[in-house]
Amino acid sequence: MQTSTRSSLLLKRSLAAVWHPCTQMKQHEWLPLVPVVRGAGCWLYDADGRRYLDAISSWWVNLFGHCHPRINAALVDQLGKLEHVLLAGFSHEPVVELSERLSSATGRALGHCFYASDGASAIEIALKMSFHYWRNRGSPAKTRFVSLAGSYHGETLGALAVTDVRLFKDVYAPLVMASSQVASPDWRLAEKGESAYDYAVRCAGALERHLERHHAETAAFIVEPLVQGASGMAMHDAEYLRRARRICDRYGVHLIADEIMTGFGRTGTFFAFAEAGITPDFLCLSKGITGGYLPLSVVMTRDAVYQAFYDDDVTRGFLHSHSYSGNTLACRAALATLDLFEGERVIEANRVRRSCITAAARPIAQHPRARNFRNTGMIWAFEVETADPSFARHFFAAALEQELLLRPLGNTVYFMPPYVIREDEIELLAARTAALLDALPPD
Ligand SMILES: Cc1ncc(COP(=O)(O)O)c(C=O)c1O
Repeated sequence: MQTSTRSSLLLKRSLAAVWHPCTQMKQHEWLPLVPVVRGAGCWLYDADGRRYLDAISSWWVNLFGHCHPRINAALVDQLGKLEHVLLAGFSHEPVVELSERLSSATGRALGHCFYASDGASAIEIALKMSFHYWRNRGSPAKTRFVSLAGSYHGETLGALAVTDVRLFKDVYAPLVMASSQVASPDWRLAEKGESAYDYAVRCAGALERHLERHHAETAAFIVEPLVQGASGMAMHDAEYLRRARRICDRYGVHLIADEIMTGFGRTGTFFAFAEAGITPDFLCLSKGITGGYLPLSVVMTRDAVYQAFYDDDVTRGFLHSHSYSGNTLACRAALATLDLFEGERVIEANRVRRSCITAAARPIAQHPRARNFRNTGMIWAFEVETADPSFARHFFAAALEQELLLRPLGNTVYFMPPYVIREDEIELLAARTAALLDALPPD
């Protein structure tokens, strides 16, 4: 059978059997699925031999490219020893070492690691733990959560409660618990002449006013530090986080850092909160933790939180569980990922990569169809001036034709490449994206 016949058969079978995520399946009547058969470095290859530069790290998970030899080797080694064991009543070397090394990465401020599989599960855990902490400490009225306008924390019901993206949330509103949103420090919303810093200070004032009134019933404030991803790569000044930390302390409210996207060097420092010189009470990690290989998430907390659950009374313990909690293979992939960070001085190397990408993207930043070109660490984003309500889908399809995997969020186009992107690949990404902008139909 010819490759193209085989791949079209696979696509037919996929559409018949697989319900794809975040997709109105009917759109696949005109937008074909891409049948990926292999990956190497920043590239994905389809069944017909076409290639695509993975400029969004496969939904922000892939840090070191596809099929990295060192992560592959670690997994092969682990497969010969132990693939998985339940974590209740049992332990294993990879989960212990991973917990110790993650704790070190927070300067040992967060020392207790609770594992799950996906980002949303980590958010569920952090919300439940915060509520349960206050209950164990004699404040059962603290049942509410605050998040930023435009925040995204995942799609399960608890995570959706603190998410503020109408497209994902509105239809499920009757199922979702109430939460409060405060102004986002997204600098695009600043007044004319107001700096990102000044706007962050103003928004921190709004958080303070909210907690002043509602601290007695508020368990935690949850935030995506420095970059709010899914609502359009909204970036803010670190001063917001500094002030939020102080305000949460003042009013006895937990600070939950959702670093599911921003963690592991994505914003420039290993964790985004470090840029502000603060430590959250809870840190949620996932996505890049395994280098994009296997589902794993973790919630890390302070000793004071852990101690509030440590008791003779079983019901004061945190009885939450997931079958694959602390999966051995996933932990081993995470250890190999940490090895790469340490062995290859990735954070430092990314500073050079960052300048190179910013320089290559200059024609995009100056393009008449691009607005608000911005960058934090290894994330670049801009809005495209367009009246096309289906811009995201059309641009995605046009980019695929140019061998680029770009998946705009509304009219926001962003780059979030793996940390192994080479100079020639950077040039290709920037030049072809600029050409895509040139080719846009006039409004
Ligand atoms: C900041 C943030 N939190 C939570 C999630 C949910 O993670 P998952 O898709 O693994 O459930 C995401 C996913 O994009 C995210 O970006």
